[in-house]
Amino acid sequence: MIIEHDPNKVREQVKAWKKEGLTVGLVPTMGYLHEGHKSLIDRAVKENDRVVVSIFVNPIQFGPTEDLDKYPRDLNADSKLCEESGVSLVFNPQPSDMYADDFSTYIKESGPTEELCGKSRPVHFSGVCTVVNKLFNIALPDRAYFGQKDAQQLAVVRRMVRDLSMDIKIVGCPIVREPDGLAKSSRNIYLSPEERKAALVLSRAVKKGQELVDAGETDGDKIIDQMKALIEAEPLAKIDYVEMVSWDDIKVHHKVDGPILCAMAVFIGNTRLIDNFIRE
Ligand code: PAJ
Repeated sequence: MIIEHDPNKVREQVKAWKKEGLTVGLVPTMGYLHEGHKSLIDRAVKENDRVVVSIFVNPIQFGPTEDLDKYPRDLNADSKLCEESGVSLVFNPQPSDMYADDFSTYIKESGPTEELCGKSRPVHFSGVCTVVNKLFNIALPDRAYFGQKDAQQLAVVRRMVRDLSMDIKIVGCPIVREPDGLAKSSRNIYLSPEERKAALVLSRAVKKGQELVDAGETDGDKIIDQMKALIEAEPLAKIDYVEMVSWDDIKVHHKVDGPILCAMAVFIGNTRLIDNFIRE
């Protein structure tokens, strides 16, 4: 397995593979890999001749008060997981490899980015779209893999690929959870034991919402109110948002009469966690 920080060398390697007629899958990550990431990697390895995993804590998608500096990093463990999973190349650039001092070109999507996390994290999706675009231009993938854990991100990337006529298939992958329901996340490491228990309100609220939809409830406000009530009963939880939107254009929507996404962001102590479910 190759580990490379230089974008040009990665592109040269991928071009060499393509010359041989091999297909390339890309799994963009910020590292500190867990089984959620691994599910994307495993699928990519199954569906492509070569797989590139990018590991890059992308500074431009973090707001000034967010956790860029303390975001967990462990390149050794990540490389081992990639190697054992059959990855061909780990792309691990430094910020200076990706952003020149006078870097000045940003992608701004203005549809699905407007709701949910777009409201509470104003620079986030422009940073995501810009880095994902760069990663696509460096790794030249046939397919790229994204988790439904970040459902809005998946919708935004799909929109960008469509709008900018990129010849890349975006593959969405289901949420991987801990045995007790908590969605796997690199940020779960921030939680104290007490907060870890409290964090279960997110997956419990997701389950509640799913049960209501299964039972035939179509009133979005009723569903969201019951999910919120469940979260508000937990003293360590503070809701950023719990909302229903249409899937996958992420517009405010109050009725289950087509594909919907119920998404939430909740602070447990100082840690902001997200979770969701989709009904297609
Ligand atoms: P990161 O949070 O590291 O996630 C990388 C990919 O793994 C994303 O597509 C995310 O949705 C997926 N993922 C994370 N946890 C998951 C889980 N429990 N189940 C399934 N998939 C999961 O998302 C990012 O990084 C960045 O924004 C990135 C796209 C790399 C751009 O910087």
